[in-house]
Amino acid sequence: MINFLDLKKINLRHEHEMMDAIQKFMHSGWYVLGEDVKRFEAAFAQYCGSKHCIGVANGLDALALIIRAYEIGEGDEVIVPSNTYIASILSVSMNGATPILVEPDLHTYNIDPALIEEKITSNTKAIMVVHLYGQTCDMDVINRIAKKHNLKVIEDCAQAHGAVYDRKRAGNLGDAAAFSFYPGKNLGALGDAGAVTTNDDSLAQKLFAIRNYGSHRKYENIYKGVNSRLDEMQASLLSVKLKYLDEDNLKRREIANYYLNFINNPLIVLPSVMHEPESHVWHLFVVRADNRDSLQKYLLEHDIQTLIHYPIPPHKQEAYSEWGQLNFPISEKIHKEVLSLPISPVMDMTDVRKVVEVINRYGK
Ligand SMILES: Cc1ncc(COP(=O)(O)O)c(C=O)c1O
Repeated sequence: MINFLDLKKINLRHEHEMMDAIQKFMHSGWYVLGEDVKRFEAAFAQYCGSKHCIGVANGLDALALIIRAYEIGEGDEVIVPSNTYIASILSVSMNGATPILVEPDLHTYNIDPALIEEKITSNTKAIMVVHLYGQTCDMDVINRIAKKHNLKVIEDCAQAHGAVYDRKRAGNLGDAAAFSFYPGKNLGALGDAGAVTTNDDSLAQKLFAIRNYGSHRKYENIYKGVNSRLDEMQASLLSVKLKYLDEDNLKRREIANYYLNFINNPLIVLPSVMHEPESHVWHLFVVRADNRDSLQKYLLEHDIQTLIHYPIPPHKQEAYSEWGQLNFPISEKIHKEVLSLPISPVMDMTDVRKVVEVINRYGK
């Protein structure tokens, strides 16, 4: 079986270095918000080219805490893409603000900048862009719209660690950015972890406090904060893995290019890269097919595991039953047709060639 993703193989490449890191962490005797978190925050800020990195518990918290720190809440609106993973939308709802859904572009799967302005009202406070599947959004246009309407730009970088747009990395393309280090991400921990990056000094100082009970100094609370700290041990492991992120992304790009060059079945729609090659870090390689479920079954019969990102659009989720009557035809089409092929930094080229060969025979 060609697995969709082999997390064990991904992590065991660094077993010795990671075990060393765990041993150092254990011997440090300091297990929460210690040197490992500080070291990772500094390294990741430098990697993204941003001034600050604030480690938090997970990607959802990273998004939600940015919104909270910007004091966006009841009565405010935040623009989000209608085909994103539910977490982006939940982060707005969690703060009592209203997510305003905007359709994506069918070719990039990212928010369609041409549809943003018509959704802006006097209550709009921010545009949340999601660099979905690993490709950066059209940031020039989006930042221009945000500036014109005095809106914050929040990046959801959960799927785009290391992606580049106009020589800048994701995480440094708006006002603040949220990362998830969930194990399957391009930079994945061995548990839950997340971070915010920003160049905004006052936002950063506020977030350093909010993630830790609203406190800069023990037992002095200036905000009604939360406990959403980046786990010290996860930070030590992330520092090891960060060193290999560029190499891993290159391997993903090599596989993606092979798929793009050699899959030539007219029944399959391949993904498009809109900017420079580095603008896509191929967290997922997502194709579309009219009869997606039959394609998935066919691939499984040939020992190729695939996944669907995502089967149900957010506005059709029970949790958002109030949106049940809304129509987002592009999102609905995407959710009906997408299928993610195996891609990872440990995938063997023999397996990549097999996927191409099998998929090219589909329907013949
Ligand atoms: C686009 C997107 N945003 C946010 C998240 C939330 O991250 P986490 O699972 O770390 O809370 C994810 C991860 O699953 C994601 O894919």
